[in-house]
Amino acid sequence: MDNLQPKAEAISTAENNGHVIKQERSHELEELITYLVNYLKPRVLSDLQEKVLRGAWSGQTYVKIAEKTFNDPDYLKGIGANLWKILSEALSENVTKRNIKLVVKRKHQKLLDINQKTHHEEINLPKVTKSALKTATLGNESVTNSYRDWGDAPDSSLFHGRTQELATLERWLIGDCDRNYRRSRVLALLGIGGIGKTALAAKLARQVAPKFDIVIWKSLRNAPNFKNFLSELIFTSGDRQMFCISDTAEGQINNLMDYLRRNRCLLIFDHLDNILASGKLGGQYLDGYQGYGQLLRRIQDESHQSSVIITSREKPTGLSLREGRKSLVRSHVVKGLAKDAMLKILDDRGLTGSESTLQQFCDRCEGNPLILKMATATIEALFAGDLHKFISHNNNLLYGGIWQLLDQQFQRLSGLEQQLTYYLALENKDASFTQLADNIGGKIPYCQIIEALESLQGRSLIEITATGFIQQPIMLEYLKKKLLSN
Ligand SMILES: Nc1ncnc2c1ncn2[C@@H]1O[C@H](COP(=O)(O)OP(=O)(O)O)[C@@H](O)[C@H]1O
Ligand SMILES: [Mg+2]
Repeated sequence: MDNLQPKAEAISTAENNGHVIKQERSHELEELITYLVNYLKPRVLSDLQEKVLRGAWSGQTYVKIAEKTFNDPDYLKGIGANLWKILSEALSENVTKRNIKLVVKRKHQKLLDINQKTHHEEINLPKVTKSALKTATLGNESVTNSYRDWGDAPDSSLFHGRTQELATLERWLIGDCDRNYRRSRVLALLGIGGIGKTALAAKLARQVAPKFDIVIWKSLRNAPNFKNFLSELIFTSGDRQMFCISDTAEGQINNLMDYLRRNRCLLIFDHLDNILASGKLGGQYLDGYQGYGQLLRRIQDESHQSSVIITSREKPTGLSLREGRKSLVRSHVVKGLAKDAMLKILDDRGLTGSESTLQQFCDRCEGNPLILKMATATIEALFAGDLHKFISHNNNLLYGGIWQLLDQQFQRLSGLEQQLTYYLALENKDASFTQLADNIGGKIPYCQIIEALESLQGRSLIEITATGFIQQPIMLEYLKKKLLSN
């Protein structure tokens, strides 16, 4: 109840029935509202509804509450209207933003009595029935109780490390007034294959799930057709009414947007790169999959109370234009895991070896847990889990699954992107833009080189240092091997 300024708040507002409550200690009222919020939560009040309640309680206008919560005042008015409806049903009395205190005051004695009783059955307060809550909250048939569909989200019980990163991502997703972070409507977790995007998204989503009424995890691994995807999403959400309204993709997006406005949902779209085209600059949707781009654009641009986490090897088009430190759209490049977390994964797998061998092996895998796991599988199968035996025979990781992982990413590049990565591999050190443009450019216009570099960066395949562009060492190694074999 941090915003309620409970202790000795002087109240001198004329309430709408003409009463004036003067210089009254709000201790009891604080107790009442705490009770009210706890009584209704978690079944009804979303975070935003609670914030509106707190703001109204301390006499703030919608504009002020919007400033504090980084929202749009008109949108909050809608949230408020819904909230007063819920409270009216809960208290069996017409509750408005202006009379909330007075009504609660009137219920004072009853509620204090209630606090002394132990069983809810004895409560002489109008009960909020499940069906009343349903209609009160949404004004239609929709879901009010919390709902979770984790789909094929990975289990997070063996997740290691990234503690600080998770804390920051949580602040981005939920918003943090102290740091001036606005809640994210879209949060993209980007990075090369196997680096841990899906695992991080699952861990983050589980961490923030209590703040959402509805959590739905959807994998795009099999590149589902957009209309089927939408229908399934809507069907999963349980809002049959919405499902029935429209059978055009646009109509269904409208319905979904409406749903995201009415409910606090967390949607996770995993493996978004599977619906992006290869052989072109990064981030472009496959033919027939542009509907996903349209959906994401609307989720980014329109006002609602939900959030979407996406994971992708490439940054989808349209994201860069909207993202920023104070924006509602954020992206985060997932980098390699810290060595201690990598060592824990090895420990989970039961790999043996001296401490220095284990550390050396983790360094070789460059923080990529998938590479580590694939190499570990070989060591288990062929070297009875003895890391030293593996390393003494072969320190090369570029075979089988690991080669394929890197090859897949290389094959997705446009012709110019491939040329740039080859050049960087041959240079074997940082290269500046001028060097790249002079050596690769020739007749290629600068703007195309800029586009290609941006695209490589969006795929997390190059990084920018003070002296120029560099590639990840394992990718560099892959490219050199490829050049030699050509
Ligand atoms: N922080 C972590 N702790 C333990 N295992 C992890 C962690 N991050 C990723 N992994 C494991 O590494 C593998 C690759 O991770 P994944 O999230 O699928 O990568 P990506 O989505 O980036 O391709 C998975 O088996 C996953 O369980
Ligand atoms: Mg993944």
